[in-house]
Amino acid sequence: MTGWVAPKYKGGPKDSWMFREVLGIPFYRFDLGYSNEDKVEEIDKILSSLPWSDNSTNQIWGGVKHEGGGGSDLYNHEPLRYLFEWMQDCMAEVCDRMKIPNEMICNAAWANKNRPDEWFFDHTHFNCFLSSNYYSSGDSNAVTKWYYPNPYFDKTNIFPVKYSGQDEYDNIYNLTHEEPTVPGRFIVFPPTIRHRATPNQEECDRITVAANWFPTGLIDAGGVSHLNVKVIQ
Ligand SMILES: [Fe+2]
Repeated sequence: MTGWVAPKYKGGPKDSWMFREVLGIPFYRFDLGYSNEDKVEEIDKILSSLPWSDNSTNQIWGGVKHEGGGGSDLYNHEPLRYLFEWMQDCMAEVCDRMKIPNEMICNAAWANKNRPDEWFFDHTHFNCFLSSNYYSSGDSNAVTKWYYPNPYFDKTNIFPVKYSGQDEYDNIYNLTHEEPTVPGRFIVFPPTIRHRATPNQEECDRITVAANWFPTGLIDAGGVSHLNVKVIQ
């Protein structure tokens, strides 16, 4: 795993101190709290007052409809307009860095709450091109942990390793990255990389907003193959 690129804050309206490589893969980071700490608190109060429902290992925003047919549209919650507009600005900067001319549309968003001792299971994100997490509250000891198959062991049946337990196996078989929970932080990552939230061992709740994004308009691969889509919310 590569070391940290010095987190030199650039300042400016987009609150970016941009990206480091994680497992050789660009992850993009922004911190709302650098310039607008009041908003971080305000957003957390709004999120805390949302309705929540049980989600086996934690709590999930009540607007998620497990039977399908919509839901997961937290971007339509008017009190969170500032947050989603700020994330939209962040995504524009990500697209600029990635040389993507299209606008990214948030095609799904919801919130998770891990109360003390709660956690969120290992998963990937479907039906999107980019994924993101906004950390609203919680302690830095609770992390999001990503798992990327270790090339020494992936796609082979040779595994001459001694290990004890699932956690140790996962840490050997995969290259991993742990992102601490920092209120106001927004991180953008590839949706197909497995990740989970570790148990919240603090007294305070850990609230995060997950959002998926998809390019809208003409997606043109060198003029050879194109896809013209209009992503709607
Ligand atoms: Fe996730």
